[in-house]
Amino acid sequence: MMAVEQDRRARNVRLASGDAFSRRDPFVIGDQLSFPLDMFSVPHHYKGDVKEIMIPHGLVIDRIQKLAKDIRHDYADTTIHLLCVLKGGSAYFQDLITALRRFHDHADHSYVPFTFDFIKVKSYKGVSSTGSVQITGGDLAALEGKNVLVVEDIIDTGLTMESLLPVLEARGANSVRVTSLLEKRTELSSGFRGHYVGFSIPDKFVVGYCLDFNEFFRDMDHICVISDRGIERFTEETRG
Ligand code: HPA
Ligand code: MG
Repeated sequence: MMAVEQDRRARNVRLASGDAFSRRDPFVIGDQLSFPLDMFSVPHHYKGDVKEIMIPHGLVIDRIQKLAKDIRHDYADTTIHLLCVLKGGSAYFQDLITALRRFHDHADHSYVPFTFDFIKVKSYKGVSSTGSVQITGGDLAALEGKNVLVVEDIIDTGLTMESLLPVLEARGANSVRVTSLLEKRTELSSGFRGHYVGFSIPDKFVVGYCLDFNEFFRDMDHICVISDRGIERFTEETRG
């Protein structure tokens, strides 16, 4: 194993305290992989605002079925407390619990229930690598003794998770793991990696499936790469 890889895994295990679990690897979307826009249906109001489709919606859903299976398997008899990070994580959260419910509905043996809550997280990038984090919504006092699974849309620099996890642990959670639909291969990564990750993606700005650019594009099913025109069109005017 490469030293960098080893270091990253060590960091991850350290973050999820007492949890010597090494993650399952994500599906890797290659740097050149894209799906042509004219082969899939994209909302008319975003025509020209996206460059290419990186992950068609159907593939997102298929991958989530397997993530749900992995999670259900690993937690076996443990009640998971899913902590959905709004707003970006909400589409993934909904499809993840749909898949989990399906296991429960059709199983011929008993599963344990899952519970959930929603939080909003704002991270401030300070001079230190940990930075600080503001959490709103959600009942943090209720995390005590729970096996928390944070549900995120994307891990980019990793700084949000690096700041969030110690806060959740300090609230007395029994375990804290992270599932993120996407993980970006970026030079700016802190090295943080989630436990259950859907796709490792190239260093491009993606939108759709609740991922936004200035609140737009959340209403699109496919995960797409934003175009220069899209950036220009939806950039907030910052005068004064
Ligand atoms: N798209 C949307 N939101 C994000 C991204 C991205 O690529 N990276 C971090 N937040
Ligand atoms: Mg997010």
